[in-house]
Amino acid sequence: MTTQAEQTLTMIREVCALGRAELDRPHTTEGDTAAARALVHGLRAIDLAGEPSDISLSLELLAPRAPYFDRLILDAIAAGTRQVVNLGAGYDDRALRFRHSGVRFFDLDLPDVIADKARRLQALDTDITHVALVGADFATDHVGDALARAGHDATRPTLFIAEHLVLFLQPRDVERLLADVSGRGAPGSVLALTTEVHPAGLDSALVVSTVDQVMFDGASPLHSIRARDTWLALLNQHDWQVENATVATAIDHFELPLDDKPVQIQTHFLTATAG
Ligand SMILES: C[S@@+](CC[C@H](N)C(=O)[O-])C[C@H]1O[C@@H](n2cnc3c(N)ncnc32)[C@H](O)[C@@H]1O
Repeated sequence: MTTQAEQTLTMIREVCALGRAELDRPHTTEGDTAAARALVHGLRAIDLAGEPSDISLSLELLAPRAPYFDRLILDAIAAGTRQVVNLGAGYDDRALRFRHSGVRFFDLDLPDVIADKARRLQALDTDITHVALVGADFATDHVGDALARAGHDATRPTLFIAEHLVLFLQPRDVERLLADVSGRGAPGSVLALTTEVHPAGLDSALVVSTVDQVMFDGASPLHSIRARDTWLALLNQHDWQVENATVATAIDHFELPLDDKPVQIQTHFLTATAG
């Protein structure tokens, strides 16, 4: 039985994939852009009313976000990184668009999502031998073990990306994920993620519960929204150092009424290096 929060998460996952497919996006010389587009074929991002979502609404958020992660992957490949771990990959097509000899991609997501992605990839006429699809629930599974089983080499640098993921995890699961990933991050590794940020001084639990009540009628899939400094401290605690931490790369995500005042929730793009 699928819960309302799970249905909303499914819709958001598909909106991300369909929205990105609308954008003009870079690729490597070996990248397969046709297969990347075909990967999302047939997704409909059905909303709770049973209607396909209006993808155009998401483009404002995706337009700055997608190139941020695209650029990091292209730069990492150019710098010699040979492992890209995509945490909460959903239907992200980067493993296809950024195919490059010697580079291995690890796409992790919930087991049912990965099973569907595997079916879709196998149906395409494209090489996927460089892609490891790893089904893992970050709330219960040990990501370090899952990566090891999938052939990830913890002695070599990795680019880890988590685009629009940690918002959907419980705070304790974010911490566990950061610790697990830290254990797989050899020197030279990079972790890039989006974090949802509320203004400093607010109670994060109150912000999250207000989102739940006001925006999702008690069935919110959004669980982790924190002050920027709290996110930075958390990364630090798990041996990830954010360069230029005082300069925020951020976009407005949504506004929330809190004590009858509007509060702006932003998405911050953070890139951290290991050690
Ligand atoms: C908003 S989608 C973003 C997907 C992808 N990163 C993108 O930008 O298209 C969030 C993803 O996180 C995954 N996710 C959420 N909770 C998870 C969990 N507990 N374990 C593994 N993946 C999870 C969802 O299944 C979903 O694919």
